Amino acid sequence: MGHRVGKTIFTGCVRQSAVRSLIKSDTPATANGHQYQGAAQTRSPTHTTLNQQHTTHVRNLSTKHFIMSVHVKARCKFYPRTKDSVERCPVPDDKVPWNVDFLEYAPVDFTSESVLKQPVWADLPDPSGITFNCIDKSCKVNRRTYEPQGEYEVIDGYPRNPRGRTGLTGRGSLGRWGPNHAADPIVTRWKRDENDEVVVGDDGKPILQFVAVQRRDCGEWALPGGMVDPEEERTATLIREFGEEALNSLEATDEGKIKIKETLTHFFKDGLKIYKGYVDDPRNTDNAWMETKAMNFHDDDGTGVGAFNLHAGDDAADVKWKDIDSGLELYASHIDFIRDTAKERNAHWEKCHV
Ligand code: BGC
Repeated sequence: MGHRVGKTIFTGCVRQSAVRSLIKSDTPATANGHQYQGAAQTRSPTHTTLNQQHTTHVRNLSTKHFIMSVHVKARCKFYPRTKDSVERCPVPDDKVPWNVDFLEYAPVDFTSESVLKQPVWADLPDPSGITFNCIDKSCKVNRRTYEPQGEYEVIDGYPRNPRGRTGLTGRGSLGRWGPNHAADPIVTRWKRDENDEVVVGDDGKPILQFVAVQRRDCGEWALPGGMVDPEEERTATLIREFGEEALNSLEATDEGKIKIKETLTHFFKDGLKIYKGYVDDPRNTDNAWMETKAMNFHDDDGTGVGAFNLHAGDDAADVKWKDIDSGLELYASHIDFIRDTAKERNAHWEKCHV
């Protein structure tokens, strides 16, 4: 596959001094170094459209009060689970956007062996037969992006990462060309003391706890989410993944399995939408990336799922209720979802540094 993305060069004078800095919700799009209104020099109509889409996208994020870091983990030096043998081509912050010139860009091409073995969840090595930006009729895979601009570009038959360069082409360890969809449950309860009183942080706000799992693949703490199967309802994904990873439903008795499913079906009925879109995941490449929908399910009095015995299973090595505050370190963009959940629930967030 070579370095085909590297050969697609765009010119433009859009100034972006700190793309990886945070896109802050309640500040104008020009804050944090994002200067999108420069007169972009365009080489083609496609390029004009791309710049316009980028601007719209940032404004959308601004109005939705969402904060998301862009391509920090997706530019990690070594590709995950390659024993440091696959190194990304370094991409400086200001060269992440496709519309900024980067003539020397020489991304490494990599697709893992497990993907090339062609498991059911992986596409064929050659994407030329795939119709992108739609529900794929042949296999029912949703190839639409959750990103607000609605479509991603396909260049020479290869889908292009809507958030910019990652230093690596191919699919890495992701099965699908283009978007790979996941669903993440953010299950919360209030922290309580031995007298069942809600515990407050030093800012006087109640402390929220969420169910976190420790991923077996990298050891990082994360939400107990998972990949959405073709045609699967997202709620079904949430029930399956939470059941398997946080309640070890795979090893429960038949009776236990039924009880877990019933409780979760009820609990996951009404959730608060926290995020839907691109995820800054270390597995992302220039041609394959993660997207997710993260929903918050809150047990206010702690007597439902909040009282469940957590038991790690499947892809999770450990599971626990973790206190939410700004000091947490989590997998991919999960910290962004947790921060927004704390905000939505008016819970304690800022960790006091003494
Ligand atoms: C995880 C999700 C995560 C997604 C994107 C999936 O493998 O199960 O929790 O949001 O990747 O990082």
